[in-house]
Formats: sequence, C-alpha cells, structure tokens
Amino acid sequence: MKMLDLRYSTAFICAVFFIIGAVSGEDKAVGSSVSFRPDKIDSSVSSIIWKHRNRTGVVVKAIEWDKDEPEVNIPHPRFKGITSIDDKTGQITITKLTVEHSGLYTIDINSKEQEQKFTLTVIERVPKPKITKEETNNADVVYLKCDYIGTIIWKNSTGQTVEDKKNEITVKNSKNPENFYTCTLNNTVSEETSDRVYERELFVTGSNAGLIVGILFALLLVALIIFIVLYLFVTPVHEWVNSTCPCMANLFGPLDCLKKTEVAGKNSSGSGVDAPLNQTSSTSPSDQNQ
Ligand SMILES: *[C@@H]1O[C@H](CO)[C@@H](O)[C@H](O)[C@H]1NC(C)=O
Ligand SMILES: *[C@@H]1O[C@H](CO)[C@@H](O)[C@H](O)[C@H]1NC(C)=O
Ligand SMILES: *[C@@H]1O[C@H](CO)[C@@H](O)[C@H](O)[C@H]1NC(C)=O
Repeated sequence: MKMLDLRYSTAFICAVFFIIGAVSGEDKAVGSSVSFRPDKIDSSVSSIIWKHRNRTGVVVKAIEWDKDEPEVNIPHPRFKGITSIDDKTGQITITKLTVEHSGLYTIDINSKEQEQKFTLTVIERVPKPKITKEETNNADVVYLKCDYIGTIIWKNSTGQTVEDKKNEITVKNSKNPENFYTCTLNNTVSEETSDRVYERELFVTGSNAGLIVGILFALLLVALIIFIVLYLFVTPVHEWVNSTCPCMANLFGPLDCLKKTEVAGKNSSGSGVDAPLNQTSSTSPSDQNQ
C-alpha cells in the first residue's frame, strides 16, 4: 500500500511537470546510485543547491556548493556520506539509495531555481520467488503457487509462458520427468526467477515406482551375471549347483566352458541324478589334465 501511494504521487508529480515539459524521471533499486545533471549550466556559476522534495511535500537541501566555500555542505542526514556534486557540470550523485530518497529533485544555480526537475522513485528489488506445490484429488494433477503480489510470469521447459490464474498454475503429469516450471517476478528495477521445479519432483509416486523397478531389475541382472560367471568358471560352485539342482547342467550345458565335454556327455546320456554326479567329481582332475 505504501509503495502504491508513492507510485501514484510520483506519477502525479511527473504528469504535472511533463505537461510543462521539464521533468525527467528515474526508477532505481534500493541500494543503487543515481545521477541528475542540468542540460545547460553557464560558466559564471558561483553557487549550486540541489533540493529534495519528498512525497509528503517536505523540502530539504540535499547538497550545496558555493565558489567561496572550501567544502560542500550536506545539511540533511538523509544525504550525508552518500551525496556528491560536480561543480563543473552541476551533476548530483547519490549512492546507497533508500526509499526515502524518492521524490522530486530541483536545482538552484546562482540562487535561481531552474526549470528542469527530476523525479526519482526508489523501489525494492523483487525477491527470488519460491514455487510451492499443492496436491489435488487427482494424483496426476498439482497446483504450483508463487506467492507474490505483482506480475508473475510462469514458464515451462520450452521457455513458453504458461497462462493460468495469476499466482497459480495447474500442472498435469505429462510422464516426462525432465519437464520443468519456473516463475519470474519483475518490476521496473529488477527481475528474479525461481529455481526450476521438475515434474519428477511433482509426481513423486509414479517416478519413484519406476525407479525402484529399474533398480531391482538392474540388481537382478547383476546377480544373474555373477551367478553365471561363478557357475562357468569356479569348479566348487559348479559342482555344488549341479548336485543341488541337476537341471542346471542341462540349462547351462551349451555355455559351460569348464566341463564342456563332460556336460555334453551328460546331456546325451540323459541318465539319472547320481551317475553324472559321481562322474563329475571323479573325472574332473583328468579333465583338467587334458
Ligand atoms: C518527508 O520528510 C520528512 C522530514 O524529513 C519526514 O518526516 C517524512 O517522513 C518524509 N516523508 C516520506 C514519505 O518519506
Ligand atoms: C509449454 O507451454 C506451452 C504453452 O502453454 C505449451 O503449448 C507446451 O505444450 C508446453 N510444453 C511442455 C513441455 O510442457
Ligand atoms: C515484466 O514482465 C512483463 C511480462 O513478460 C513484461 O511485459 C514487462 O516488460 C516486464 N517489465 C520489466 C520492467 O521488465
């Protein structure tokens, strides 16, 4: 509300002076600097006074230069330590601006007020916005909110603006976890964009289930490969498996490097469990000797 009043009053001041064609206006962020200088200044200048009129109409001297004084005078604490003047050009510079520096600036040269005036509006930068998620009854739909009073621009991963309600958009699960959304705030002095919110963060259950299945599958695959390698190349494992579950011999027969000939023999004979088992253990040394 305070900001709004300020804007209207400076807008009003602006409008009034624009009609007579002598005011230029600037919007500046809190903490930044501003400079104003008269278009023309003659060489016989002996004194310059910059005055500031704030929105309640109080006029104070901002800075005062006199040819006969060794130092510039800055009477008001609002301008102390942050204000300087160039006596050649008449330019005033104010740094570390606060909202209190907003208002109308006028310049007296040789004790004569000049027609040219300057308005300054100092406003806060917009904060970096944060997106919050709100669940709906539908697991595949969420609302995204960006809490701010003012312009909010929503964009998705394609960089296109997403139009919806003012501070809220509705997002449907597109099943692409890499899609993301941002909200951007701006005013005349600044612009800030939120962190990206990815779809994978919005529809957690769906993507998590997929992830778990994927991990389980990968683990199973690794276990299977380890098992096959052990079976094929480590004799005790090979023998233990064959004794526990004889059908393995048939299953891995064609792949078996360790007992190639033997397993082949086993398969062709198709005999009972005991016979091949004994054969395996008794013939293995000779097999290796070959
Ligand atoms: C205007 O300046 C006066 C005197 O310094 C101060 O009391 C008042 O609060 C100022 N108004 C604004 C809107 O800054
Ligand atoms: C991004 O937004 C535009 C405009 O709303 C829409 O047409 C497009 O399909 C969206 N793209 C994605 C990937 O969400
Ligand atoms: C703020 O964003 C709107 C929408 O994109 C744009 O039209 C406007 O020019 C921006 N304002 C400033 C001061 O950048």
